Amino acid sequence: MTDQAPAPYQGPQRVLSGVQPTGDLHLGNYLGALVKFARLQHEIPTFIFVADQHAITEWQDPARLKDQVREITAAYLATGLDPKVATIFAQSAVPEHTELAWVFDCVARVGWLDRMTQFKDKAGKHKERASVGLYAYPVLQAADILLYKATAVPVGEDQRQHLELTRDIAAKFNHDFEVPGFFPLPDALTQGPGARVMSLRDGQAKMSKSDPSDYSRINLADDADAIAQKVRKARTDAEPLPEKLDDLAARPEALNLVSIYAALAGRTAQEVLSEFAGQGFGAFKPKLADLAVSVMGPIGGEMRRLLADPAEIDRILGDGAARARALAAPTMAEVRKIVGFWNS
Ligand code: ADP
Ligand code: TRP
Repeated sequence: MTDQAPAPYQGPQRVLSGVQPTGDLHLGNYLGALVKFARLQHEIPTFIFVADQHAITEWQDPARLKDQVREITAAYLATGLDPKVATIFAQSAVPEHTELAWVFDCVARVGWLDRMTQFKDKAGKHKERASVGLYAYPVLQAADILLYKATAVPVGEDQRQHLELTRDIAAKFNHDFEVPGFFPLPDALTQGPGARVMSLRDGQAKMSKSDPSDYSRINLADDADAIAQKVRKARTDAEPLPEKLDDLAARPEALNLVSIYAALAGRTAQEVLSEFAGQGFGAFKPKLADLAVSVMGPIGGEMRRLLADPAEIDRILGDGAARARALAAPTMAEVRKIVGFWNS
């Protein structure tokens, strides 16, 4: 061995991401993740899955889980993913995810997982009562990504730490088994004003499915009235909007609404301020409500239309699973050989 930098990954570029089927999708999921999926599919081969195996790290009703997978799939389709262009599938339909995760469980170090902030947030005070799966969750995520040798992963800002862990696992695997460049070191794609959408009730907290207040978030399935009402009730302050973005630094609720407007309109937050500087929220909120209704309203309608035909959604997921397995199987066969398993 020399001490030169390891050989870089030479294979094709691929995009991969997924969302857990654990509740209603909201504006944060839409701007942080789904919008980017639809955009990237036309640039790079794109694999988007529903993470039903991740979902059971916390209790899920078995009688509801399949429908929850169909709901996320409907959201993917309604936000512009095209099953003829992107590969759309359910994680549980490709058993290689969990097979690779076991190998990675033996590559990742306990010390690395102990640093994961999402586990600490989700496990709360009673860490010893959390499932082992919740602890190992980021290792399965690394397997999801590296099974397809994905090079770019569009996610919200909160997933950045899991992507760093994925890179560490890839680098250690390549090093320990002396297969330089076998796995790529994937990049998190988190750019844009929608990378961290905050709660409408609290500018310091992330907009999240698990927030008990429905007024904290705009759901993809909300109708126009609900969207407009939530924007109207969003917490703000009494000051008018400033000219410069820096002047919003100490006004998190105001910054959040301006950022949401920018992300929905495909503009920068500074451009939005240039238009609204000097105006108060009495003027800004109705404009934001109209914009949110015009972008999000049709998505909810399209989701309801798609969900009326679950057989068609299942057909799309079945077709996607076959395409995903065609790529996953050879990678897993190579991994079995590299590790030296009897079944290789
Ligand atoms: P939640 O945190 O609401 O449970 P998930 O963990 O299922 O949502 O996230 C699915 C995707 O949406 C991930 O890529 C995540 O980074 C992104 N995401 C979640 N919440 C937000 C948010 N408030 N702002 C931006 N992106 C988000
Ligand atoms: N952990 C992600 C989330 O909470 C979901 C996820 C699972 C994922 N596997 C992934 C995202 C692989 C990107 C790539 O949102």
